[in-house]
Amino acid sequence: MQQVLKYLAANKKRFIEEMSELLSIPSISTKAEHAQDMAKAAKWVATHLRGAGLVDVKVHETAGNPVVVGHGKPVPGAPTVLIYGHYDVQPAEPLELWKTLPFEPTVKGSKIFCRGSADDKGQLFIYLKVIEAFEKAGGGLPLNVKVLIEGEEEIGSPSLVPFLRKHKKELAADAILISDTHMHAYNTPSITTGLRGLTCAEVRVVTAKGDQHSGTYGGTIANPCQVLAELLVACKDPKSGKIKIPGFYEGVRKLTAKQKRSLAETPHDDVKYVKGLGSPQVFGERGYSTLERAGARPTFEVNGIWGGYIGEGVKTVLPCEASAKISMRLVADQNPAAVFKALKAHLQAVAPPHCKVTVKKMDNDGQPVMVDPAFPGMTIACDAVEKVFGKPPIMALEGGSIPIVADFQSVLKAPPLLLGFGLPDDNLHAPNEKFDLRMFDRGMKTIAYFFADYAAAGT
Ligand code: BES
Ligand code: MN
Ligand code: MN
Repeated sequence: MQQVLKYLAANKKRFIEEMSELLSIPSISTKAEHAQDMAKAAKWVATHLRGAGLVDVKVHETAGNPVVVGHGKPVPGAPTVLIYGHYDVQPAEPLELWKTLPFEPTVKGSKIFCRGSADDKGQLFIYLKVIEAFEKAGGGLPLNVKVLIEGEEEIGSPSLVPFLRKHKKELAADAILISDTHMHAYNTPSITTGLRGLTCAEVRVVTAKGDQHSGTYGGTIANPCQVLAELLVACKDPKSGKIKIPGFYEGVRKLTAKQKRSLAETPHDDVKYVKGLGSPQVFGERGYSTLERAGARPTFEVNGIWGGYIGEGVKTVLPCEASAKISMRLVADQNPAAVFKALKAHLQAVAPPHCKVTVKKMDNDGQPVMVDPAFPGMTIACDAVEKVFGKPPIMALEGGSIPIVADFQSVLKAPPLLLGFGLPDDNLHAPNEKFDLRMFDRGMKTIAYFFADYAAAGT
C-alpha cells in the first residue's frame, strides 16, 4: 500500500496533464454534431485503461455512443468490483459566462476548471490512476476489477440499458463503484445513500393558428403565455410549494426517523446556503427542511419557458403558442412512467377550453435509487474515507440522478456504492465547472485503500 500511495504522490503532475487531455475533448452527448468527439473520448479512455494495465479493453459500438469496457488481470478468490463512469458531458452554454474557455482545462490554485472536470471525467480518471498505481508499483491489483465507461449518461443512458442485459455475465460483480456525486463539504466527507429519479416533459399551449395584432385581437381569444403560466401554477402551489398533480405523491416513502435524524445532524445553514447561491431566501415544499427537500422529497421544476416576443423593444403581438420544459425529480418508490401519466392527465384536465395543450414525454426517465447501507462494502468504504479525510463520512441523500444505477441493481443485482469526490460548488452543468484537485488526490487515496481493504475482507 505504501508503494501505491508513493506512486500516486510522485506522479501528480503527469496525472494533471493526462486528465487535461481527456477534458479538452468536447464530448457533449446532447449534440449530434459531436459524434466524432464521443468516439475520440471513448478511444482515449480505452488507450489509458490499457496503459494502466487492464487487459481485454474494448470500445463497443452501440446504437448511440461507444461503451468502453476493460478488465483487470484475474485475481482468483478475490472479490470483484465493477467501476462505472461517464465520458460524456453537458453542453457548455452560456459560453459568455465562462471565465476560461470551457474545453481548455485551466488550473487555478487547487482547482481545475473545464466542462466535465467534476462530472465525470475528472472523477473517472481517479480509477485509471489507482489501477495504474497498483499495476506499476503495488505488485498488481489485489482484487478483480472491471471498468465500464459510457458516453450517454447525460441523456439518460439509452444504449447502456440493452448493453447491460447483453453483457450481464461479463459485468457481474460483488459491488459497483461509482464516483459521480459529491461530498457534503470539503471537511464533511459523505457517502451518497440515495439518488432521486427523474421524468421530463415538454408542454405546449396553442391558442390560434398564427400570431396576431395584440390591439385588434387582444382580449378576444386567450393568450398562450398566460394560459401556460396558469397551468404551471395548477401543478405547484406558489405558497406551500406542494405539487398539485393528483396521485403525484403516491408511493413516496416517508423519511425514517433515522434518516430524519441524520439529515438534522448534517451541518447546514440556510443563511450561508442562500448567500452562496446569491438567492434572497430558501423556498420549497412547506414542512420540510432544506436538506430534506434536496434529497428526500420529489420536485416539479420548470427548466425553460418560451413564447411570444422576447427581442429588443416593444412588439405588440398576441402570440399563438407558448411552451415549457419540465423536469420532475422523484424519490423511492415513485415510478417515472406513472408520474408522467399523472402530469399529462392533470394538465389535460385543467386546460381551459380556449386552448389546445399537448404534453410530450422525454426519454430520459430514471428510477430513484436507495443504497443498502448494511452491505459489507459500505463499512469498508467508510473506513477508507476516514483514513484519508480524518473523519468518518456522513450518509447523504443526493438530489441528482444517475438513471443507470437502478438498472445496475435490477439487471446486475449488485449493490452500488456512490462514493463521489466532487463538491457542491463544482458548478456541474453550469459555467465555470471545476474539480478540486485536493479532492482528486483524496479520491485516489480513498479508492486505493478501498481496493486493498475490500480485497483483504475476501468474498
Ligand atoms: N453526476 C450527475 C448526477 C449528480 C449530480 C448526482 C450531483 C449527485 C450530485 C449526472 O451526470 C447528471 O447530471 N445526471 C442527470 C441525469 C439526466 C440528464 C438524465 C441529472 O441528474 O440531471
Ligand atoms: Mn455525472
Ligand atoms: Mn451530469
